[in-house]
Amino acid sequence: MTSEKPATRPTVLVIDDEAGPRDALKVILRPFCTIYCAESATAALDILSHKPIDLITLDQKLPDRHGLELLQDIKHTYPDIEVVIVTGYGSLKCAMEGIRHGAAGYLLKPFNINELTSLIQQTVEKKRRLDFLRQCLRNSSELWGSKEDSTRAWHTLQTGYAALCTETDNHSFLSHSDMGLLPLFSDILEATDRQLLNHSSRVSFYATLMGTRLNLTLSEQKTLALGAFLHDIGKTSFSIYKFSEDQALPSRAPILCKEHPGRGTRMIASLELPTEVGQIIASHHERWDGQGYPLGLQGTEIPFLARIVGIAQLFDHLTADAPGRSPLSTDQAIQQISNQAHTHFDPELLEPFLDVVKESAAAVPTMSTVPAA
Ligand SMILES: [Fe+2]
Repeated sequence: MTSEKPATRPTVLVIDDEAGPRDALKVILRPFCTIYCAESATAALDILSHKPIDLITLDQKLPDRHGLELLQDIKHTYPDIEVVIVTGYGSLKCAMEGIRHGAAGYLLKPFNINELTSLIQQTVEKKRRLDFLRQCLRNSSELWGSKEDSTRAWHTLQTGYAALCTETDNHSFLSHSDMGLLPLFSDILEATDRQLLNHSSRVSFYATLMGTRLNLTLSEQKTLALGAFLHDIGKTSFSIYKFSEDQALPSRAPILCKEHPGRGTRMIASLELPTEVGQIIASHHERWDGQGYPLGLQGTEIPFLARIVGIAQLFDHLTADAPGRSPLSTDQAIQQISNQAHTHFDPELLEPFLDVVKESAAAVPTMSTVPAA
């Protein structure tokens, strides 16, 4: 791990078949980026095969392929390259589809120079943070090792992360407040898989609504929201993890991923978070009938907040609309969860959870639709 800020200029590939927007991007970005240009998908893939690129601006209409198709290819082969969609006001729906496929944000034509430079700069800075965190996660198994090793690894990680944040960024993650670590946790989840971050955000959203409905205290609600957000943090420890390949049901979960509750619990053990956060991470795959993992806890042996997250995370796995998945409709997911109420879940949580789902159907936040920040 290193805490030094990379000194190299970011490399940007501008993919656009029209000279006007392409030249405008070149002129605006050249002072602080190294620019490559491609007029077609074929030319773009050729450049990508032999140049290290940090960020791509991608026009949706290309002579040889649709931009969205090219985006999917790029994210499959080069998942760590950030892509910004370039679009006109009439094609916003396509831009949103691009975000769903992993684009970091979108730019509207004609360009507003301030918005353009701000988005590119923020995206490049985010990529540097995510690259640093990926490097940490790949090379620092101490993070989920003994408490002593984990404390040391977190210190190195947090120091390096802070050095990569600009002065304008919020440095509250350096505070000892558990919520102050949220930007770092969010980036760690996103560094692993942007869809894992989106899943974690939605599960936290459902859990928060459950907390309100169940009249939990404010302190309990805060702990529940944080625990739900971190419930799958252990998955960030696997070098090859894809949310789109993750299995919905605990009984069908890959062996590798069965270790994620334990790894996640060890990861956060040295961070002085509320005890219940660790319990949520450790026990969100336990089942009411004792057939879950990792310990086979049964009924009320399973911590209450973990029971809430258990039902919320399964619902989201079943309904998540993400590339590579075949989501169930809300009604189908409700049916499946209802059928499993006495085997998988605390039956008393079923009714309040289904009320929450029905009420929030139109209000689920989609963090992936927020341009990179
Ligand atoms: Fe999980």
